[in-house]
Amino acid sequence: MTPWQEIVVGQLGLGPVWRLRDAPRRDVAQPHDGFEEAPAAPEPQRVSSSPPAPPEPKMPRKAVMAQRAIEPAPEQRVPAAPVVVASDSDWDALEHQIRNCTACVLHQRRKQAVPGIGDRHPRWLLVGEGPGAEEDRRGEPFVGPAGRLLDAMLAAAGLSRQSGAFIANSVKCRPPGNRTPETDEIATCFPYLRRQVELLAPRVIVALGRPAAQSLLDRQVRIADARGQTFSFEGVPVIVTYHPAYLLRNPHDKGKAWEDLCRARQLSDGT
Ligand code: URA
Ligand code: SF4
Repeated sequence: MTPWQEIVVGQLGLGPVWRLRDAPRRDVAQPHDGFEEAPAAPEPQRVSSSPPAPPEPKMPRKAVMAQRAIEPAPEQRVPAAPVVVASDSDWDALEHQIRNCTACVLHQRRKQAVPGIGDRHPRWLLVGEGPGAEEDRRGEPFVGPAGRLLDAMLAAAGLSRQSGAFIANSVKCRPPGNRTPETDEIATCFPYLRRQVELLAPRVIVALGRPAAQSLLDRQVRIADARGQTFSFEGVPVIVTYHPAYLLRNPHDKGKAWEDLCRARQLSDGT
């Protein structure tokens, strides 16, 4: 193993994956690429996209009624207004526009929009799905358990939120109940991501999971199929890998994520 590989293996906790007789237990049935699956506790469950779910799945009816009394009604599905980002929009203007955006239904129940964070001259741009509850509260992407794994992945690549990496999402506002963002929501929010790519000019874009890949590639992909390919977005190479929340539930796939990170590193640094 090269020193780089040793670091990645250490940082991602990959060691046991390669031990023939001591593989991590698979407690749950594995979906095709697992992305539709809910992330591991203590993160809130991701639920299937439609129809809009009640505040908490499987909550006793009484509790649901009580919660509805204090929560705003489920979002009203009205046609989304198109987002127009000025071609000369700078960071301040872009973030101001995102924070005040009401173009899709996701604005209705957010605490705040989460534009993204990181090095504004990054080697890597990482694109996730959408803010969760903690991100919605704090205004920063990937601050829960999946975020800790993402930080470890970045550290393995010699990157951090402070240096070398920028982290954004396919939608900037939290989907209620942490459901998967709808195709129309991803499409409506897309001009913000496109402007972020223009301003950041990263050497590589890493799409974490299906909604990110869908946003950047403008079509639905299965992660298992798209992994290993190099796509292009506005002239920037794009690779697709598993979402960290999926990896928390499916640690046996960390080895594949490790391969993907190595490829991202080759693309960004030529190593
Ligand atoms: N998952 C995501 O996809 N994005 C976040 O910001 C947090 C969790
Ligand atoms: Fe606007 Fe995107 Fe938030 Fe929808 S998710 S309201 S398009 S910023």
